[in-house]
Amino acid sequence: MSEGIENKVAVITGASSGFGEVTARHLSAKGATVVLGARRTERIESLARELTDEGGKALAVTTDVTDRGQVKRLVDSAVEAYGRVDVMINNAGLMQQSLLESQKVDEWDNMIDINIKGVLYGIAAALPHMQKQQSGHFINVSSVAGHKVTPGGSVYCATKHAVRALSEGLRMEAKPYNLRTTIISPGAVATELPSHITDEQAGPQIRDFYEDVAIPADSFARTVAFAIEQPGDVDVNEILFRPTQQER
Ligand SMILES: NC(=O)c1ccc[n+]([C@@H]2O[C@H](COP(=O)([O-])OP(=O)(O)OC[C@H]3O[C@@H](n4cnc5c(N)ncnc54)[C@H](OP(=O)(O)O)[C@@H]3O)[C@@H](O)[C@H]2O)c1
Repeated sequence: MSEGIENKVAVITGASSGFGEVTARHLSAKGATVVLGARRTERIESLARELTDEGGKALAVTTDVTDRGQVKRLVDSAVEAYGRVDVMINNAGLMQQSLLESQKVDEWDNMIDINIKGVLYGIAAALPHMQKQQSGHFINVSSVAGHKVTPGGSVYCATKHAVRALSEGLRMEAKPYNLRTTIISPGAVATELPSHITDEQAGPQIRDFYEDVAIPADSFARTVAFAIEQPGDVDVNEILFRPTQQER
């Protein structure tokens, strides 16, 4: 159990795998109530059952973050079930890499819809509750790709730069409501993320890179816990971390 985390209600998008799943386990072990959103219902329901069997409090709500109404329902379900939302973790994301000349326009659209609009819908859904509470914490997941641009990564990098811009705007605007905002920008961490790259050149290259350097996903969960468990007057605005072996 952790004093700054125990009994907080944390909503996590993208909770069916990778960062979201590991973070749900980590926060639940520290006494948080977790509300899990993702499209793969079986995965989040089975995780919620597992956490509940271990004595935690967890709820699964099938959510596609590209649908504003579904994100609102996710957050409203947390408030209906547990009375409040203390932490909104806008984590769901998609990384598809290819050169712009490859014209994978559907993939650009998907990344923009999930990585940017999904985060905005999360902000839209949780902000009114947090304003009313006069407390709350947004944790938005950017990336090293939110700090630099790589060939083949133009659109993904643009979405992750956008997450940082939105988070910084939210940080300043949320001052009257006593809210905290944290951007987490990880390097290569072992999750399902690189498996979604369809490009025949970029896919194998990036998957090999991850094979070489990626670190376990609990590295991410620990940064989330660090940001949440700080005293209420401490706002950890950004955490950038990489595997020790990652040069770029
Ligand atoms: N792993 C890394 O190296 C790394 C580095 C920097 C940043 N990130 C960021 O970390 C975040 C989490 O990714 P991950 O590494 O944990 O990868 P992951 O294992 O592929 O997880 C992605 C999660 O996002 C969810 N998701 C995707 N599209 C969604 C949608 N339309 N609606 C709701 N949920 C959706 C997926 O759930 P469903 O498919 O079940 O919906 C899944 O739970 C992403 O924002 C990613 O960009 C990752």
